[in-house]
Amino acid sequence: MAELFDSYDNSYDAVVQSSIDFSGLSHDFFMAAKADIVRDLMASHFGSGHKPSALDVGCGIGAFHPFARGMFSRLCGTDISAASIAQARRSHPDVEYQAYDGNILPYGDGTFDLAVTICVLHHVPRERWLGFLREIRRVVRPGGLLCVIEHNPLNPLTRLAVMRCEFDRDAALLRASQTRRLLEDAGLRRIDTRYFVLLPWATLLMRRIEYGLRKLPLGAQYVACGIV
Ligand SMILES: C[S@@+](CC[C@H](N)C(=O)[O-])C[C@H]1O[C@@H](n2cnc3c(N)ncnc32)[C@H](O)[C@@H]1O
Repeated sequence: MAELFDSYDNSYDAVVQSSIDFSGLSHDFFMAAKADIVRDLMASHFGSGHKPSALDVGCGIGAFHPFARGMFSRLCGTDISAASIAQARRSHPDVEYQAYDGNILPYGDGTFDLAVTICVLHHVPRERWLGFLREIRRVVRPGGLLCVIEHNPLNPLTRLAVMRCEFDRDAALLRASQTRRLLEDAGLRRIDTRYFVLLPWATLLMRRIEYGLRKLPLGAQYVACGIV
């Protein structure tokens, strides 16, 4: 897996963009929606004035990080693709990056207030899903949050984008209910799942409408989030 993404360090954005071109939307549109969801979850959990420390597991080239600017007191990113991490470091000098071996995250127990892992789980071998989430849980402090953002396999346009994306050939998409159960099994509490990216506009009104529809499995993506 590391080798697969190592070869996309320079072309990651372009490959994702070509897989979603049919939608008329940009990769940035999706990343901004992900940042908005994380911002919302953080505000309701930690309070709107609080800037948590955060870890992004499977951060790749750091595509999420420009959209997360100013959200965190400290932002770290890690990935098994050393080439992607090297690229992320060049692009985002304000973020702390470390490569890792896919087993033990290079951080102590309870280091972070929040961990996110965005479109990574479907690349992790099925038999390692639970271990992967347990290891992320280890580095989040008690009372902190772990958020998994994933493609919604019930959305036909998401399936089309995944089919068109060359590095998603081996992807095993998980339904929100499956991710929820994995988070429960990993010991997370009060798990919330929400679907998002339902409408192709990012205005406040559209975000409110999407929030109202968050429990319907319509959005292109979902977030499953639990408390450590
Ligand atoms: C589709 S990319 C997503 C990258 C980034 N999260 C984003 O949203 O742009 C999947 C990433 O997961 C990483 N990955 C795969 N298995 C992993 C694992 N076990 N631990 C950490 N990262 C992993 C890959 O190297 C790749 O960078």
